[in-house]
Amino acid sequence: MEKSLVIIKPDAMQRGLAGTIIARLEQTGLKMVAIKMLHLNKALAQEHYSVHKNKPFFNDLVNYISSAPIIIAVFQGEKAIEVIRRIMGATDPAKAEAGTIRGDFGLDIEHNSVHGSDSVETAEKEIKLFFSEDEIYTY
Ligand code: RTP
Ligand code: MG
Repeated sequence: MEKSLVIIKPDAMQRGLAGTIIARLEQTGLKMVAIKMLHLNKALAQEHYSVHKNKPFFNDLVNYISSAPIIIAVFQGEKAIEVIRRIMGATDPAKAEAGTIRGDFGLDIEHNSVHGSDSVETAEKEIKLFFSEDEIYTY
């Protein structure tokens, strides 16, 4: 059983796509075990994307993810990380296949609608950053 952190990014929130994206995630058979709405401050945004701190797009990325409220959720299941990466599609919506979340809804490489953890280690770190243990449910 894996857990993955999902973020519904500002572009998706602003277009009313949160429910649609959550439904797509649920339809994979993964279970939603935690969810909250947050408006990230810069510090938390920098921490979440710290692996990218030396990239040229880091400041834009941090400004974007902290620009408006987002939904943060944890999904659990067999191969949750890989399953979510697959249904999200490629980072750049122009390269993402039709039928994937980014392929269908992403606007451009920055405004690409969703985040999903990329490994077990990253998922653990990301989940700890946003949720305490008693906010993650078993049912
Ligand atoms: P994410 O972390 O948001 O799930 O996206 P990802 O794994 O598919 O892509 P990653 O390489 O981790 O990049 C994180 C986010 O940075 C933005 N980005 N901009 N301008 C650029 O060249 C560029 N490259 C990446 C994207 O918004 C990406 O989601
Ligand atoms: Mg990533």
